[in-house]
Amino acid sequence: MGGGMLRLPGMIHRAMVMHVVTVVVGVMVGGGSVRWAEAGDVPTTLEGPFEPVTVPLNQKAFRGNAVDLPDTDPRVRRKGPRFAPEQISVSLSASYGSVWISWVTGEFQIGDNIKPLNPVSVKSVVYYGRLRYPLHREATGHSLVYNQLYPFEGLQNYTSGIIHHVRLTGLKPGTRYYYRCGDPSIPAMSDIHVFRTMPISGPQSYPKRIAMVGDLGLTYNTTSTVCHMRNNQPDLVLLVGDVSYANLYLTNGTGSDCYSCSFSQTPIHETYQPRWDYWGRFMEPFVSEVPLMVIEGNHEIEKQAGNQTFVSYSSRFAFPSEDSESFSTLYYSFDAGGIHFIMLGAYVSYNRSGAQYKWLERDLAKVDRSVTPWLIATWHAPWYSTYKAHYREAECMRVEMEELLYSYGVDIVFNGHVHAYERSNRVFNYSLDPCGPIHIMVGDGGNREKMAINHADDPGHCPDPLDTLDEYMGGFCAFNFTTGPAAGKFCWDRQPEYSAYRESSFGHGILEVKNETFALWRWHRNQDLYDSAGDQIYIVRQPDKCPVRPLPMNPLRRHRLIRDF
Ligand SMILES: [Fe+2]
Repeated sequence: MGGGMLRLPGMIHRAMVMHVVTVVVGVMVGGGSVRWAEAGDVPTTLEGPFEPVTVPLNQKAFRGNAVDLPDTDPRVRRKGPRFAPEQISVSLSASYGSVWISWVTGEFQIGDNIKPLNPVSVKSVVYYGRLRYPLHREATGHSLVYNQLYPFEGLQNYTSGIIHHVRLTGLKPGTRYYYRCGDPSIPAMSDIHVFRTMPISGPQSYPKRIAMVGDLGLTYNTTSTVCHMRNNQPDLVLLVGDVSYANLYLTNGTGSDCYSCSFSQTPIHETYQPRWDYWGRFMEPFVSEVPLMVIEGNHEIEKQAGNQTFVSYSSRFAFPSEDSESFSTLYYSFDAGGIHFIMLGAYVSYNRSGAQYKWLERDLAKVDRSVTPWLIATWHAPWYSTYKAHYREAECMRVEMEELLYSYGVDIVFNGHVHAYERSNRVFNYSLDPCGPIHIMVGDGGNREKMAINHADDPGHCPDPLDTLDEYMGGFCAFNFTTGPAAGKFCWDRQPEYSAYRESSFGHGILEVKNETFALWRWHRNQDLYDSAGDQIYIVRQPDKCPVRPLPMNPLRRHRLIRDF
């Protein structure tokens, strides 16, 4: 269903449409794997802004709730001996020449009397090469264990297996590499896996397909999402936060679809860390061969003893933090062909005086759009969701960062957090803007929390502004609108004009960047056949019309943003 085909009368010049179609067809002839016969039906952002579309909930087919895979499911059980590598994954460095291989050995422990494993007792070795036999290159890395400690009577503590991270360097672009990982001295080496490096960065060089997914969890809906995603054969997967949902469990392994509803009396928000191991095992067949890049969501906070946070997330994944000079696991950047990805932290300071904002300024200033024309930003909590759940929750982050991203001409923003799908028109500061990014929300990966089905503009569903506060987002900035059709109100009385398409279904998206101008976005619903798309659009860059204008931020401009909204 191409919901974006509707458009407001008089918003586009007919001659422009004809020109656009001609250009798109030209691109498609020489392009990638999209089914060209269908492409003539795919709208482009040049035809926007589109009239808002809401796909009504299909009550018959609706599966709003999902059930977690139990710990008896063979897909989450350990398969090999104790020190055999498991939970193997590949992740990218800041450029094509290097990737990380990560895995776990040894058993986690959970209980009253845990004894952490010695992380150096098992070596971190990867054999790799462009041929399956022999794997003539060798790399070694580092290992760690982490603890999740709850110093309260009756709660159980956790210590992880040994987590290994090995960096492979000197890789060629767009090239398949075979590898085995483990400790050859035990011996305990994995089977041979294969991955492909990202293509060289340049305006005509892109990974064919990039999967975008959020809020995955580990339910039977997750398995459907991952199955659909694998069938689309992505070259790279971006997970925009909320990974294992281990924090919907008590330390004794009792889980709930709503933690705060079921466990309101616990002394601290508990987690059941083995869910992370289950998640890593379930995902291994996929992410041991397709690079996975993750940015943290609220479910990764997992506060524990000493007010430590994000410990599992930061320990289990490898990040290009040093390469991108963020030196943080909570925000970083990397290139994938001619795309520069910026992964932002919504649960770490985003204020203009803070480290993340200053790093973002530096990172944006370094981007050479003649090498990486596409600039894509992701973080967890959306700025332009129109659903009731988490409505305007990230408003303070938007007030701080939106103008900076806009000034550098960010092309697309991907978010999760809200368990539904939504695509915006080009928007900046709540106004339709032909140079604003398209915001796409893919928080519909399939976790066990309920799907979002109510909109803030539905009668009776506008939340109280004070109810939108989130303790980890910081501050309160969600004031009533002062301009536009919703002036004086907190919510619109209809689907806002900046919302192009919204639908409550589980799924994932695939981004196919064709060249420096065109990118095809397709959102795939779990209930559909593998090859069909629920929403699709060509996102078209117009650098001539929207040049990069990095403006020095000053207090006056900041004041204007805050006052208007
Ligand atoms: Fe979330």
